[in-house]
Amino acid sequence: MSENKQSDICILGIESSCDETAAAVVKNGRQVLSNVISSQIDIHTLYGGVVPEIASRKHMERINQVIRQALSDAGMTFSDIDAIAVTYGPGLVGALLVGVAEAKAMAFALQKPLIGVHHIEGHICANYIAHPDLEPPFGCLVVSGGHTHLVAVRDYGKYEILGRTVDDAAGEAFDKVARAIGLGYPGGPKIDKAAKEGNEYAIDLPRAKVDGSAYDFSFSGLKSAVLNYLNGAQMKGEQIVQADVAASFQKAVVDVLVSHSRNAIDEFGFREFALAGGVASNSGLRAAMEEMCKEKGVRFFVPPAILCTDNAAMIASAGYYDHQAGRRSGSDLNAQPALRLGDR
Ligand code: KG4
Ligand code: ZN
Repeated sequence: MSENKQSDICILGIESSCDETAAAVVKNGRQVLSNVISSQIDIHTLYGGVVPEIASRKHMERINQVIRQALSDAGMTFSDIDAIAVTYGPGLVGALLVGVAEAKAMAFALQKPLIGVHHIEGHICANYIAHPDLEPPFGCLVVSGGHTHLVAVRDYGKYEILGRTVDDAAGEAFDKVARAIGLGYPGGPKIDKAAKEGNEYAIDLPRAKVDGSAYDFSFSGLKSAVLNYLNGAQMKGEQIVQADVAASFQKAVVDVLVSHSRNAIDEFGFREFALAGGVASNSGLRAAMEEMCKEKGVRFFVPPAILCTDNAAMIASAGYYDHQAGRRSGSDLNAQPALRLGDR
């Protein structure tokens, strides 16, 4: 603690919206002092996806220990923390409730400010941690297991949604297609790996547009096209090449994500563009987005993979900017599973 100045603000972040129980301490919104993530992936893999009831139970078992570890890694005690930031939506209601109840109890017992954070806002803020010189305004594509949002970040805490998915999220499509071709859960990283060995032009798949809405996304047609291809191959007794399906599918998703982002850069004149969310760890997407931004003369930002998937450092960072803006949550803070970005 000795290197901390009086004016430094240290936020304890707590994240439990899906299948990671996480706690972190972040100084002044950008400097990670600790980042503890207890993943439940091994347990949910047995069921081929996240089982909400199991997720809540595991969060309850682990949350105290994860918080203690985060404080200890940061060399701090409870009293050194300036505020507690917690994800209160969107996500699985039972899972969110564990983090929210814990944060509320801590804030009450320690008499510290409580700040409810929007999970997607957290994903965007992961870029502030990874890139100390990044400041709004910028464009951001948030692609995760539950969300696909093209966002204009106008200022800290001020977002305009330019487009969103009308059906499946990008990560959800990765997970469903991975299951269909026998790669299992979680699908994103497995497709990413398999795609490296495949031919991305092997299968002709659609690049869906949403009528009348230039920036919205739709991935359910693409998922159906992959399933139709697999059924067709099975009926003809043809062997599918997993790597080719993975590569062609990944290319179809990446093409749409990149072309919408390119159009947004053209229309809104972003000079800086960031990628966020679990799918932002995809190597094909990172490379294609970087190339497009280079072509456009736009600075490109993406966090390292560990800050792309769910973590609490990003929640603490978002909480810091809320804290500085004077935003506080009351003891009536509740889990909001369907919270939309911009709702407060
Ligand atoms: O952001 P995140 O950890 O959780 C949500 O907020 O949803 O994102 C998880 C999603 C999963 O769908 C997972 O398959 C996907 O991110 N994902 C990836 C990769 N790593 C994780 N998708 C594509 N390529 C990856 N390398
Ligand atoms: Zn997430």
